[in-house]
Amino acid sequence: MLKGKIGLAPMADYTDFSYREICREYGSEFSFTEMISIEALIRDKKESFNMLPKENEENIGIQLFGSNINSFIQAAKLVQNKGNWIDINAGCPVKKVIKKGAGSALLKDLNKLGDIIKALKENIDKPVGVKIRLGFEEDYAEKIIEVVQKNKADYVIVHARTQKQLYSGKANWNRFNDLKKICEIPLGASGDIYSYDDAKIVMEKYMADFVVIARGSIGNPWIFSNITPDINEIKKVILKHANLMINEHGEEKAIRRFKKIFIGYTKGMKNAREIRKKIPYLYTYNDLINIVNILE
Ligand SMILES: Cc1cc2nc3c(=O)[nH]c(=O)nc-3n(C[C@H](O)[C@H](O)[C@H](O)COP(=O)(O)O)c2cc1C
Repeated sequence: MLKGKIGLAPMADYTDFSYREICREYGSEFSFTEMISIEALIRDKKESFNMLPKENEENIGIQLFGSNINSFIQAAKLVQNKGNWIDINAGCPVKKVIKKGAGSALLKDLNKLGDIIKALKENIDKPVGVKIRLGFEEDYAEKIIEVVQKNKADYVIVHARTQKQLYSGKANWNRFNDLKKICEIPLGASGDIYSYDDAKIVMEKYMADFVVIARGSIGNPWIFSNITPDINEIKKVILKHANLMINEHGEEKAIRRFKKIFIGYTKGMKNAREIRKKIPYLYTYNDLINIVNILE
């Protein structure tokens, strides 16, 4: 099962193998794949299989999204041996996903969410957790958690916003306190954890059992161990991260995907604005080295 207190949250288009490796090196105790479509896995889509954990990865959950119960079972059976547990995405607020009844749409159909959890628990050999939001339009997280634990999920992670809120406003950490009172399974917290201190506060004051960090880790893998890196360390990790991605995806795709992460790494630098203007012209690893050389 998920071991540790501070880990990397799933982020589509970010948390590939390279991202997870870098975060792991700097203290992330567990991680998740990007969300992977159960229907794409069943159709044997190569890109989806490429998102699965690599051989040596430990303490990693495979996050699946979809809506059909039989497809969930089929997909989970196909991939379960590649990871340590399966995580059900019941929080994604994106329209395209909701339209198909997946992600946070499952919060509107709690019977179905419960049936999916139950079906996976009965049909696969690995632990099963769920990542939710507080609700769809309104906040009815207690009701969701009741269903989640009745169907014997092994943990629940709550992003303390509703679907309707998307990423606006502030995550309502007070709700972790409320939910902890009724939650009999490990309660994970997500939302607006932007420092190691935030992570500690969410566990000590708001009583979450563990936390996952998403946006706060973009260009800041040091968040997991409370290190403040100097400029040379940042430059070193930028190139290391990009190299891992080039091995994983090939140079063109890697550099394209790396741009938004690179912006994260340059946050707070003296010449961040000047650097950002160069990003549209970043195509190759050599281009990246040239930009990294002028970071200050
Ligand atoms: C770019 C991006 C992609 C995300 N992709 C996923 C995903 O694939 N699965 C998921 O459960 N949550 C996903 N999330 C939500 C995060 O895991 C997290 O719950 C949310 O961003 C709040 O945490 P934060 O404030 O630490 O970013 C994503 C968030 C972002 C910003």
